[in-house]
Amino acid sequence: MTDITAPYGPLAYFLDLHPDLGDFEADVIKGLSLSQKALSPKYFYDAYGSKIFNHITELEEYYPTRTEKEIFQKNAKAITASIGSGAAIFEYGSGSSEKIDWLINGLADPTAYVALDISKTHLIESASSLTQTYKLPIAAICADFHTPIILPSGLLPQEERWLGFFPGSTLGNMTPEGAVALLKNASETLGSGAKFLLGVDLEKDPAILRAAYDDKKGVTAAFNLNLLRRMQRELDAELCLDDFVHQALFNDDLCRIEMHLRAIKPTSIMVKGRRFSFDEGETLHTENSHKYSVTRLKKLIEKTPWRLEEVWTDPKDWYAACLLSNR
Ligand code: TRP
Repeated sequence: MTDITAPYGPLAYFLDLHPDLGDFEADVIKGLSLSQKALSPKYFYDAYGSKIFNHITELEEYYPTRTEKEIFQKNAKAITASIGSGAAIFEYGSGSSEKIDWLINGLADPTAYVALDISKTHLIESASSLTQTYKLPIAAICADFHTPIILPSGLLPQEERWLGFFPGSTLGNMTPEGAVALLKNASETLGSGAKFLLGVDLEKDPAILRAAYDDKKGVTAAFNLNLLRRMQRELDAELCLDDFVHQALFNDDLCRIEMHLRAIKPTSIMVKGRRFSFDEGETLHTENSHKYSVTRLKKLIEKTPWRLEEVWTDPKDWYAACLLSNR
């Protein structure tokens, strides 16, 4: 089922693709039944989780957000020049659309901004409020960016040349296969002549990575442990929070940070009449954040229709802004 309304308040259009928000109860039961217990990171982001996530991005140890911002700011002229004039921006996972300012202001004659996000109310509010700041047509699409998306045609004044914008190193939260699938989908969505501006976190000393995902103040720990609190709140799960600790480890083979909730003694989680036991040290795997070298990233992109055109990094080479062009 799809719904499209054009115009929608101050927006050029609003397209609702009714993303699958998941079934928390079914997914918890399925995930706790696995031999390596696991749960999708999408369940992090309830109201409380989204709020703590914003704190994570401001932590001293969490370098990606500010490093990306620095790269965008320092290289704004070069990046926008490479994108060229007359681009329509399509942001994947726009959230509060906080990262768009330099791009809209720096680009020559941008023709539109289309925000895509899974959270409908927040999306409509954020996109609508942008219409007061910018003169260009703004539209919103409520969808899950992991699924193929077909952009509506004929609703924007000009929409020939798209720029996909995917900041925040969110590509790293997917498996490499998932990342390839997303880039293939984006190539279809955005069409020939499109470009794609991507933020990617790079390989570095594992100690720096571990600290970024296990900060001193315990904010990331609270974010991870919120999954257990959600089970208590929403599913009446019986569990002892104190039996679990947040763990961020670097998996060398797969070059990724893994977040787990680790049982510090034998314990169990009881959900909907089913008991799932944990041995001491057993974990519930909650998230991955893959780190790339530019070489490995290039190899990944070679499996998609995109071509890696340019890379901008910070002086420490901790993070990369990459510009891709579609075949
Ligand atoms: N994509 C970012 C990263 O992997 C942000 C992020 C997603 C994150 N989930 C997280 C950060 C969990 C900390 C903890 O870094």
